[in-house]
Amino acid sequence: KKPVAILISGRGSNMAALIDAAAETDFPARVVLVVSDNADAKGLIVAQQVGIATETIERKGYASKAEHEAAITAALRKAGAELICLAGFMRVLSAGFIGDWRGRILNIHPSLLPSYRGLDPHKRALDDGVLIHGCSVHFVTEELDAGPIVSQGAVPVLGDDTEKTLAARVLGVEHRIYPLALKMVAEGLAEFAGGRVRFRHQPQPKAGSA
Ligand code: GAR
Repeated sequence: KKPVAILISGRGSNMAALIDAAAETDFPARVVLVVSDNADAKGLIVAQQVGIATETIERKGYASKAEHEAAITAALRKAGAELICLAGFMRVLSAGFIGDWRGRILNIHPSLLPSYRGLDPHKRALDDGVLIHGCSVHFVTEELDAGPIVSQGAVPVLGDDTEKTLAARVLGVEHRIYPLALKMVAEGLAEFAGGRVRFRHQPQPKAGSA
């Protein structure tokens, strides 16, 4: 099983979905560490309750962004992580960090990328009057929310939606597509290659071999 670390800043519901999926015996990844950049993140408690190791590494404890990221990398390496899932991690990682983990960082963003990169995607989708919205899991590259897409899920936008109701509908889909994307990456069925995702098909059992 691929050792995975999850980086959070808050509630951690996507983290919980990943932990739940990874608890299944046939899931190809296991969660070795949850790191939060916020000591008050609710997700820390959720992870601890199910026996996952956690570390709080806040930016204010370090003189620079580089030192903060070096501390995160040290914790990830110590835990043996080979993949990183950003799950509501609200800090923009430096090019140096991303380069060190090239092709091994996934993020979930609550929009159908490349629409609505960055902040307030639900509000901007409502303001634009789009009828379909959703979420995307992508590999992290230097440009914010612009890395190649592994998985997406769509929801309808309803006439009486508020930011809150729309976010909740999208979140339900996030919890389904993030474990799916992690599974594909951990199995090598989706791989970062030359700035794009290369998808492979699951080998089918040969006729007569079942
Ligand atoms: C999720 O909706 C996630 O997609 C979003 O923050 C929320 C975190 O919720 N992430 C971003 O906006 C990243 N730019 P969670 O902590 O319950 O998973």
